[in-house]
Amino acid sequence: MSRDQLKQQAAEKALGFVEEGSVVGVGTGSTVAFFIDGLAKMKARIDGAVSSSEQSTRQLQAHGIPVYDLNAVGPLKLYIDGADECDPWDRLIKGGGAALTREKIIAQASETFVCIIDPAKQVELLGAFPLPVEVVPMARSLVGREILKLDGQPVWREGVVTDNGGWIIDVHGWRIQDPVALEARLNQIPGVISVGLFAARPADVVIVGDQIRPKRPL
Ligand code: 5RP
Repeated sequence: MSRDQLKQQAAEKALGFVEEGSVVGVGTGSTVAFFIDGLAKMKARIDGAVSSSEQSTRQLQAHGIPVYDLNAVGPLKLYIDGADECDPWDRLIKGGGAALTREKIIAQASETFVCIIDPAKQVELLGAFPLPVEVVPMARSLVGREILKLDGQPVWREGVVTDNGGWIIDVHGWRIQDPVALEARLNQIPGVISVGLFAARPADVVIVGDQIRPKRPL
């Protein structure tokens, strides 16, 4: 089975979590694109969606699914999103698609975060995928120097401007032993908008292909 087929399987399994009449939090990326296509087939049974990116908003609206401002709908029952890496405790690296800030906001605002991945995203230790950090543009060099002090290698994703007007630094070279501590540490650097580590608030459910994966006890 191809990676795309495995992503589609995970996306279709996630449709089973969607409740009648609800507003669904929707992430960003190629796996989520399959989820949105599936959601479109049941759009008469949901109220609408809160979207984590302009890209997902366009796809949702093209299917005729109403997109709401998070402020207008309050806490959500469900958020569905992909990931770039997932460890055995359902902690994630996200932001390969540069949508990490809005993704993190919606994940935090949601009761249940269901992460949909293909098997290649599963790792024992986070960090082989360069960690995306969104920064205020004027803080790019400052944040880069702080990351160097933490033994990371910052690489500016030149030319990419996020939906929030931020820039992305991808940090190479880390093998992340304590993702909760690193997330907190990076969040303290002035100019950091958000960090692509979803460790303080990990996923609640991870679907790999067509399987709900059991979480390893900490
Ligand atoms: C976007 C993300 C995506 O969830 C992540 O990059 C995975 O993408 P894909 O489903 O295309 O593999 O975090 O910011």
